[in-house]
This record gives sequence, structure tokens and C-alpha cells, in this order.
Amino acid sequence: MKKIVSGIKPTGSLTLGNYLGAIKQFVKLQEERKEDEFYLFIADLHAITTRQTPHELRNRTLDIAAMYIASGLDKDRTTMFIQSEVLQHAELGYILQSNVYMGELERMTQYKDKVAKGEESIASSLFTYPALMAADILLYDADYVPVGDDQKQHLELTRDIANRFNHYYNDFFTVPEPIIPEVGARIMDLQDPYKKMSKSSDNPKGYITMFDEENMIKKKIRSAKTDSLGVIKYDPINQTGLANLLNIYASATDTNVEEIVLKYKVSNYKTFKEDLGQVLVDLLIPIQERYQDLIKSDSLQEILNQGRDRASDYAFKKMRKCKRKVGLGRK
Ligand code: AMP
Ligand code: TRP
Repeated sequence: MKKIVSGIKPTGSLTLGNYLGAIKQFVKLQEERKEDEFYLFIADLHAITTRQTPHELRNRTLDIAAMYIASGLDKDRTTMFIQSEVLQHAELGYILQSNVYMGELERMTQYKDKVAKGEESIASSLFTYPALMAADILLYDADYVPVGDDQKQHLELTRDIANRFNHYYNDFFTVPEPIIPEVGARIMDLQDPYKKMSKSSDNPKGYITMFDEENMIKKKIRSAKTDSLGVIKYDPINQTGLANLLNIYASATDTNVEEIVLKYKVSNYKTFKEDLGQVLVDLLIPIQERYQDLIKSDSLQEILNQGRDRASDYAFKKMRKCKRKVGLGRK
């Protein structure tokens, strides 16, 4: 049995991109790996590395938890919890800060990008963020960590930190490996298919949120940018917008792009878009209904309580050993 651990930062509302790129992948992984144990947490401590409005942060934390369950996560096989409710994350994060070097943190692209953009008032926690992320993973002795491409570098640093710690204090942490999805990894903006679909886009027609109503979903797909060539084929260079819609269709229906192209070869954009709109409605509306039931229910609270207790139990024991290794506190 392997242990799989992942976290999601509750910043920005959920879009179809988050669903196809992260949530659905996680649920699929769980279906494929029946023998394994899953830990999934909402990384609210990571969220405050940039300014958050308190009530929005709290609502989004619950939204994400509910959305994962509504999307088919097996709650009985997942320890799902809120990061800040398991105190050892911050505690181990601090210890790992003492095992990572300034030079290593300075090389992280996510941090470098912020600096390059000339952003002022960057919180110091944004700089040390990878040490906390390493703690999230090493605390549970994760074997595998499913993440998007952008997190690969943080995971490599996590491995370096684990190896360094193991070397100095004698084997203690499991050195984790990443799992990076091949498809559905990049859903693009519907109006500007050269940029990633994201809620922070200026044009709301460019993204579909997980909360959009039926007509809104159909309307956004109908008005998605395509081209004037009028032939349905997969050509990301010359038919970038259409290629994105084909990817969305394939990812949403668990098929591959070739099959979709074959199906619509003799069709036109209008029919293809109508069908895609319907595919997404059939996919998202039932999730939304389950979400609505969950968000007000005691069962979501119970899942999070149980997750917190189970995770805390493991984390407490691991930390007690860790402090002993490092020489902190009394025997
Ligand atoms: P973010 O909302 O950017 O913090 O991302 C949360 C998760 O959703 C990460 O695993 C991302 O890789 C994934 N994600 C976000 N936007 C997209 C997108 N447009 N296409 C695919 N995956 C996405
Ligand atoms: N840093 C990740 C992100 O921004 C979220 C995250 C925090 C995470 N801790 C983690 C992911 C541990 C995997 C494992 O998306």
C-alpha cells in the first residue's frame, strides 16, 4: 500500500480548468489505485502567503472540500482535512526552514516570477513557502504526490530537503515522487486560447466556473473563439481555439481527441459547440446539485472533522519522533 498526498490552495474560485486539470485527475487516480491510501488537504496556510479576505478564504476552503466530494472523491478512502487544523504542518514547516538554504529558495520560479513582476510587499512566508509544502508532504511519509506541472520544482526541493535531513539525522522521512498528469493539464481561456483558463481573467466569457448555470455554460461555449476555417480537425497552431474545445470535450468525456474529431469530421462548429455545451451541462449540473446538498450538510463537517483527527493522529506521532531526532524539548 502506498500513500498519496496532495494539497490545493484555496485562492480564486473554481473553474472548469481546475476541475478538469486537478479535481477530476485526483478522483481518477483514486479509482485506478484501489490499494492506496489518500490524504487530501485544503492548503489555507499557503493561501495567506498573499492577502486574503477572511470570510472569502473560509468560504472557499469549504467550497473546495465540497466540490471534491461532489465530484466523486471516495470519502471513505480519503483523509480530507484543512491544513491549519493540523498544527504539525506549521511546526514541521519551521524545522524544515532550518534545513533549506536561501539560495535554494531564491531559485524557485514561482517566487522569482513575483519578484520579476516588480511586486512590492512580498510576504516572507511566500519566500519560505516551499519549506511548508515539504512539511505537508513529509509529515505523512507520502510515496506519491499528484501535482500540476508548475509544482514540479517545489517537489524536487522537497526531495532534496528529505534527503538532507535523512543524511544528517539518519533515515527519517520517505522521499516522495511526483505524479504529473499528461492530459487535461492545460485548459485554455475560451476567448483568448493562448492563455490558461483562469478566474482572474478580465473577460468572464473566457472561463466557465463550477457554479455557472445551464444557460450560461451553453452560452459561453457557443461564443467561444474559433476560426474561419470551418473544418473540425485538431490543429493547435492554426485552430487554437477549436483545439482547446476538442481537449475540453475529450477530457470531460474521458475519450481522446482523435475520437471526437472522427465523430464531428463531417459536422460544423455550431453543432459541435451545441453538443459540447450539453456535455458540460450533463457533467457539471449533477456536481452542482450534490455540492448544494453538501455545503449545508453536517456530513461535510463530519468528513472534515474525521480527516482532521486522523491526520492529526499521524502527524502528532511523526512530529514527536522528529523533535526527538533533532534534539528539541525534553526526552
Ligand atoms: P490554481 O487555481 O492555479 O491554484 O490551480 C489549482 C489546481 O488546478 C492546480 O493543480 C492547477 O494545475 C489546476 N489548474 C488551474 N487552472 C487550470 C487550467 N486552466 N487547466 C488545467 N488545470 C488547471
Ligand atoms: N503549492 C501547491 C499549489 O500551489 C499546493 C500545495 C501545498 C501542495 N502543499 C502541497 C500540493 C503539498 C501538493 C502537496 O498548487
